Amino acid sequence: MQELPTIQPTMVPELTPEQIGELSDEVRELAAQRNAVILAHNYQLPEVQDVADYLGDSLGLSRQAAAAEAEVIAFCGVHFMAETASILSPEKTVLIPDLDAGCSLADSITADQLRAWKAEHPGAIVVMYVNTSAEVKAETDYCCTSSNAVAVVEHIWAEHGAETEVLFGPDMWLGAFVERETGLREDPERRARFHVWDGECHVHAGIRPDDITRTRAENPNAEFLIHPECGCSTQAMEYVASGDIDSEGVHMLSTSGMRSYVESHPDGEFIVATENGMLYPLQQAAPQANLIEANRMAFCKYMKMITLPKLRDSLAAMKFEVSVAPEIAVRAKVPIDRMVAIG
Ligand code: 13P
Ligand code: SF4
Repeated sequence: MQELPTIQPTMVPELTPEQIGELSDEVRELAAQRNAVILAHNYQLPEVQDVADYLGDSLGLSRQAAAAEAEVIAFCGVHFMAETASILSPEKTVLIPDLDAGCSLADSITADQLRAWKAEHPGAIVVMYVNTSAEVKAETDYCCTSSNAVAVVEHIWAEHGAETEVLFGPDMWLGAFVERETGLREDPERRARFHVWDGECHVHAGIRPDDITRTRAENPNAEFLIHPECGCSTQAMEYVASGDIDSEGVHMLSTSGMRSYVESHPDGEFIVATENGMLYPLQQAAPQANLIEANRMAFCKYMKMITLPKLRDSLAAMKFEVSVAPEIAVRAKVPIDRMVAIG
């Protein structure tokens, strides 16, 4: 059943600094023994980020997984990300410390639903966010992430013609972002050939327009960093369009895009509209920056299922292995490779 677009905080067991130190040493030692590389998403717990070899957004981690020379990838993120790593590196053992670390957005479309949608639009090109299962990717022409969705759709029009019908999913807010950035809003005829699935991430959808209005009133000089999955992104752009917010101060960015932006503006003041785990890598990148959560309840309970004790146990017992059936993996790799080639 699909989750409602509400934000669900989660209780993460607190570790003392001593426990973190000991566990981190154990993890590093096991990683060396196993010839494992540890990849962590930007929303992971701080102590998990600190022990990782690479930290990144979905696209960056896909690239790291493809390039990794280690025999084992310990993936600190959610299940679809570990599956993507396995699709890109089938010869490697991919581990996830908790198999229940899912994603409400990935759950918002199944392969059967996508096949039925394709049957309604024969000949359409399918673009799916990487937040999807391997089975859905196997039915997809191009994958995209938050950092390259616009580039992927523009590439399709350049390659297949501007009249090409596109099925975009599963995130409707990212779809709305693409429509806005590519000028489809001003072109109703072409917009009618761009179909958007109505899925969403329960964490980002829960960051509402009111959060933008309130945080803007409380922090009038702050810039906005907004993840395109957010339910408030349309509102922020409307403020820009009406001249209420200076367009210079609103940035729609992937998680690593946010990190690069803050790094290059280290004394800035920023309202951050995404999962709040993001504040840790941002503050690491720019200790002087003033960071304000757009919604203090924006926590992804799935990302927070990955803890240091579970990562230690995962490497110790080589569990839980994530693999994709070869006949699915071979088809799912095509849209991921196309995406990685576009940038
Ligand atoms: P990024 O690719 O921007 O890191 O986003 C992934 C994700 O799951 C956002 O919720
Ligand atoms: Fe999925 Fe949302 Fe969690 Fe990202 S924040 S992993 S999209 S549920």
